[in-house]
Amino acid sequence: MQEILLKKEYIYSGDLILVNYEHELKKQISTYNLVQFDENHNDILIDYNLNLALQKVLKKINANDKIIPVSGYRTYNEQKKIYDDSIIQNGEEFTKKYVAFPNTSEHQTGLAIDLGLKKKKIDFIRPSFPYTGICQQFREAMSYFGFIQRYTESKENITKIASEMWHMRYVGYPHSEIMLENNLCLEEYIDYLRNYEYGKSSLKFKNYEIMYLKMDKEEYKIHIDNNFMVKISGNNVDGIIITTKRMI
Ligand code: DAL
Ligand code: ZN
Repeated sequence: MQEILLKKEYIYSGDLILVNYEHELKKQISTYNLVQFDENHNDILIDYNLNLALQKVLKKINANDKIIPVSGYRTYNEQKKIYDDSIIQNGEEFTKKYVAFPNTSEHQTGLAIDLGLKKKKIDFIRPSFPYTGICQQFREAMSYFGFIQRYTESKENITKIASEMWHMRYVGYPHSEIMLENNLCLEEYIDYLRNYEYGKSSLKFKNYEIMYLKMDKEEYKIHIDNNFMVKISGNNVDGIIITTKRMI
């Protein structure tokens, strides 16, 4: 058995953290997890695992020169500047739809990236990433590599952000595929996982088992069979999600 000590502070970091208008980013991320997308875009930093997965998708569909990163990690001050400038340039209604209020933006986690179809002129807030051609090929491949399209039209009432075809969020595999298959946005998925409480049940998917642990104590010790690889992430609300993968 593997014994793993989980601490309450782990609620606030990991691939599955829910950052939205109701749940602010509570813990500043460790910037040493951030890497450059590539030398041509050295101003764009993203989470290390997001980058690995992104490069794999781009390679798989041969899109390296056709799809470009537009915006990755943003500091609080950068998000605030984008928000404030947009209020002046585009007004409040547009801004609230397309720019998250500082500290409620996934861009501050390093786990989100805005992608654009390579063109001469790229709109920074709303880059073009259509449901056709190479962009659609990207979309069809991405869930196998841990990405979701975070803001879709059908979930606007939940996310409170308008449909953003370009904003991809890394949640890790197999969560991305489960969310797509069940048509769940991240808010819904985080709630759905509450049905699979550690010690009582688990969500089984392929060779994975996923469990939720409510962190109502400072620490918990969990025990996982040696045949499983374990990954943990907070949900940024109240608990920890334990993802295990059977190795043999
Ligand atoms: N455009 C997304 C909502 C952000 O500003 O984080
Ligand atoms: Zn974005």
